[in-house]
Amino acid sequence: MIILGIETSCDETAVALYDGDLSSGKGTILAEQIASQIETHAKFGGVVPEVASREHLMALPPMVESVLEEASLSWSDVDQIAVTSGPGLMGALLVGTSYARAAGMVNSVPVLPVHHMEGHLLAPGLSGDLPAFPFITLLVSGGHTLLVHVKGIGQYEVIGQTLDDAAGECFDKSARLLGLPYPGGPEIAMMAEHGDAKRFKLPRPMLNRDNLNFSFSGLKTAVMYAVKGIGGQESMSDTDKQDMAAGIESAICEVLVKKSIRACLKVDAPRLVIAGGVAANKKLRSLLDKLAKEKGVDVFLPHPKHCTDNAAMIAYAGFQNLRSAKPVTDEWDARPRWSLSELA
Ligand code: KG4
Ligand code: ZN
Repeated sequence: MIILGIETSCDETAVALYDGDLSSGKGTILAEQIASQIETHAKFGGVVPEVASREHLMALPPMVESVLEEASLSWSDVDQIAVTSGPGLMGALLVGTSYARAAGMVNSVPVLPVHHMEGHLLAPGLSGDLPAFPFITLLVSGGHTLLVHVKGIGQYEVIGQTLDDAAGECFDKSARLLGLPYPGGPEIAMMAEHGDAKRFKLPRPMLNRDNLNFSFSGLKTAVMYAVKGIGGQESMSDTDKQDMAAGIESAICEVLVKKSIRACLKVDAPRLVIAGGVAANKKLRSLLDKLAKEKGVDVFLPHPKHCTDNAAMIAYAGFQNLRSAKPVTDEWDARPRWSLSELA
């Protein structure tokens, strides 16, 4: 079946066509496009909701037509629309869901609402098989840091989460303290490549606590004091920034990796998926590879382009939900706040 995926929950307008085989659960991406609004929001230092909605509104309709054309398909070939209905920015979600509903009505195609985080957590299935259930997913994005015990499609138990800032948020806020542009994660990663991670002693928050929760606001505060300690952002040399970036990246990655492996061992599910924007981080991926091997945990990583927001993961999550024969109703609305646990 051919599924049109639509994603507009934050600052990326994305559309994808996925061709999935319901009996085998396998499929391929026929076409996908993403229009990032990062440049528009960068000058404000973060996402401006009203601006995001307006940009989605302009980008989405031509992008759908363009993706259909790229796959040499027309609306009559589309069997299903899967659209992100939450969580995210209300105005941004409304653009995607209203468009999906209208296009579905006009073209007689059913519409399935998809949870954005479910898209992220199933994303490794786009580049290979999903691990056997149960498995653990570490979901690390700009707004979330969650450890999820995945027992089956739609059966998600959150077993750890951040008590304050998300990991991506910590990257973004620390980058701002170094005078680096938004989004900070890729910027810090780039600076860190040539830095000495041991020069600045930064904390590993909650690492030694006997639970699966995270806390990143203390790390951000430590970065602030470390920057002040060497005379403030203006007097920092490139080497200072590179060393500080390497220290920040190391601290965040070490906590994420160690707690995720601990989660796998705790619930006896030695299979780990890492998803969300921060999962694109190379240091995180290599540290994970190393430590997971030592502990006998198999790691499943989405392709880096499917770690950040995209529509292929939304089409795929929709496809998996249809396969699991979860009852579908027409009575749904965009939900800016929506916990993963509520899907069960
Ligand atoms: O999942 P995502 O694209 O958007 C949502 O938040 O839903 O994640 C964006 C976050 C941002 O905080 C960004 O700084 C971070 O992912 N990020 C990275 C990298 N690429 C994106 N963080 C660290 N290293 C990266 N390479
Ligand atoms: Zn996301």
